[in-house]
Amino acid sequence: MYQASDKRYETMIYHRCGKSGLKLPAISFGLWHNFGDTASYERMKALCFTAFDNGITHFDLANNYGPLPGSAEIHFGRILKEYFMPYRDEMIISTKAGYDMWEGPYGNWGSRKYLLASLDQSLKRMGLEYVDIFYHHRMDPETPLEETMGALAQAVHSGKALYAGISNYDGPTMEKAAAILKDLHCPFVINQNRYSILDRTIENNGLKAAAAAEGKGIIAFSPLEQGMLTKRYLNGIPEDSRVKTDGRFLNANAITDVRLQQIRELNTIAESRGQTLAEMALSWILRDGIVTSVLVGASKPEQLLENIQAMHRTEFSAEELQKIDEISFK
Ligand SMILES: NC(=O)c1ccc[n+]([C@@H]2O[C@H](COP(=O)([O-])OP(=O)(O)OC[C@H]3O[C@@H](n4cnc5c(N)ncnc54)[C@H](OP(=O)(O)O)[C@@H]3O)[C@@H](O)[C@H]2O)c1
Repeated sequence: MYQASDKRYETMIYHRCGKSGLKLPAISFGLWHNFGDTASYERMKALCFTAFDNGITHFDLANNYGPLPGSAEIHFGRILKEYFMPYRDEMIISTKAGYDMWEGPYGNWGSRKYLLASLDQSLKRMGLEYVDIFYHHRMDPETPLEETMGALAQAVHSGKALYAGISNYDGPTMEKAAAILKDLHCPFVINQNRYSILDRTIENNGLKAAAAAEGKGIIAFSPLEQGMLTKRYLNGIPEDSRVKTDGRFLNANAITDVRLQQIRELNTIAESRGQTLAEMALSWILRDGIVTSVLVGASKPEQLLENIQAMHRTEFSAEELQKIDEISFK
């Protein structure tokens, strides 16, 4: 049996998602890695319990998280069924569709056919009647935006999702999507995009400014650059790190001498602030109040406990910000 900690709401900070009624924890937990068929179920449970016991109410999934695709939803569904169902109304569970999921022309990108079928599959895998947020996972250059947004609106109006989100969109396309969804009376509340000290794409493609102007939330994924913005790789590549255990999206080639030098210099700034590098990297994302939540991954419960500390120290001096910029643009 699992009994959630009765202290779970004592320290977590919740931010409003743009101008919507939805609040998300400053730190959210993503199940992209460490929830596939190759991972330990006991570890998955420990991660989910640690998250929820510490006020992380938001669990982020996608149809294709694994390996195998779909297996993260199956494992999370098992945890829900065995332990979390009494707490369902305290949780924000999201899923997505947009990347390659099944064979043939209907299992990828942004058609109405794909999105609605995929959502049904995700609900079945997780044993849920609805998800809280359903995302279109990436921009589709071929499908009319009206069709993709229409599918998100349909998902919400059918009761299978409470809110709509879009992921990996740029600023101008997000603005068009927001206008369509407004016409469809669909509560579009959040953008999910990569953002970190080392990846400023959303500052350059208009997404961050447009989300702030439109009153939409942002949840920042890979805020630790998959572990590089921590002390993980400062002294070689550990056997239990993502690079060694699952090189699909982060491999040793990414840990270049230039990258290591940047990490060392950022670590020095973090130490001078009395934070770990992981904490500072997450605090930095929350620094200006525009990003609603940082979406971390973790292979160990202790990492989540460390990462949560970031929300308590989000102010930076102008000098610190300038130094961080100088290092990250090297
Ligand atoms: N929408 C999209 O297209 C998209 C794309 C990617 C991700 N996402 C979402 O974003 C979530 C997070 O992405 P991510 O896993 O790349 O995030 P991340 O937080 O940048 O990286 C997580 C990894 O960093 C390491 N780590 C975390 N905390 C640490 C700490 N305190 N000290 C040392 N190492 C630490 C762990 O790797 P080790 O295994 O080395 O311990 C952990 O698995 C995903 O789960 C998913 O929900 C969305």
